[in-house]
Amino acid sequence: MDIRKELASIIVGDLNSRWPYATTFLAKNDLEIEDDPSQKLSEVASDELLDQLAEFIIEMESFLSDDEEVVDEITIFGGNCKNGEPEGVRELTIRVGEVICIVGPTGSGKSRLLADIEWVAQKDTPTGRSVLINGHTPESKWRTSSEHKLVAQLSQNMNFVMDLSVEEFLTLHAESRQTENPEEKIQQIWNDANALAGEPFDLDTPITSLSGGQSRALMIADTAVLSKSPVVLIDEIENAGIDRQKALDILVSQDKIVLMATHDPILALMGDRRVVINNGGMKSVVEPSEEEHANLVDLRALDDRMMKLRHRLRMGERLDEV
Ligand SMILES: Nc1ncnc2c1ncn2[C@@H]1O[C@H](COP(=O)(O)OP(=O)(O)O)[C@@H](O)[C@H]1O
Ligand SMILES: [Mg+2]
Repeated sequence: MDIRKELASIIVGDLNSRWPYATTFLAKNDLEIEDDPSQKLSEVASDELLDQLAEFIIEMESFLSDDEEVVDEITIFGGNCKNGEPEGVRELTIRVGEVICIVGPTGSGKSRLLADIEWVAQKDTPTGRSVLINGHTPESKWRTSSEHKLVAQLSQNMNFVMDLSVEEFLTLHAESRQTENPEEKIQQIWNDANALAGEPFDLDTPITSLSGGQSRALMIADTAVLSKSPVVLIDEIENAGIDRQKALDILVSQDKIVLMATHDPILALMGDRRVVINNGGMKSVVEPSEEEHANLVDLRALDDRMMKLRHRLRMGERLDEV
């Protein structure tokens, strides 16, 4: 409905529930409306003021709707394998809160699938896949605007070129995202990152001197706390020497879509589903069985033993007894 027409007939008592910011606007223009809720707004406000209010509301609505845009699901339509034949999975929809694992031999196309999602492919990548957001062909902003990145990418190679301390880097990041309570968020990221990384680091540590595991941990915590991107892509996290279980917990708790390429059985079984990649194509989608879930207990115990051995080795102990 035309907002100007609506303003012409709306009663004062309905204004606040319809547009909560309208009364503030009117107050700023020296019109206090509180006396009689059944009175028509047009009786107390001039035509000129109503014109201005209509314009203001239109701006506010477009501003707010932009910010409130929510991604509930993404859909991947299958393309072609490396040999040009159609890939097995023709359609895959992933919803917010889901963790999808991507498994397959090295060179099979796991990173390619993540890249297709990051780029919101529209049959314009080597695989010919297309990606829909909430069931629709995505608006171009998902590809072009840096504020509206679909994906927070945690990539295999984290290259820090900037000569900043951890704190400076996080401050910069928080400011560019216009975060509320930046100091609190920075503390939280630093705490989370240190919980993930084997070896703690300080806020004044230069980014460039972080180990691979530490910078990965920092990126995961940063993504979880600061990123508005609805989709998180994780490419082979297992080699980074961080607490994988905790990393996944931190990311999953943020109501995002998580896609994770992995060779790690524990991570793979923790996913809601896993996509099997072969020869460049999505071959099948597998749901973990009850037996697999039951095996997680044993796998975690095994993993725990390995972690402890690794720790002892690091501390300079001998492993004569394991
Ligand atoms: N369906 C496909 N069609 C053409 N090239 C592909 C396809 N899938 C993957 N590739 C290419 O194969 C190479 C290896 O894929 P990559 O995703 O890096 O494998 P992985 O991450 O599983 O080790 C890359 O150059 C990638 O672009
Ligand atoms: Mg890869």
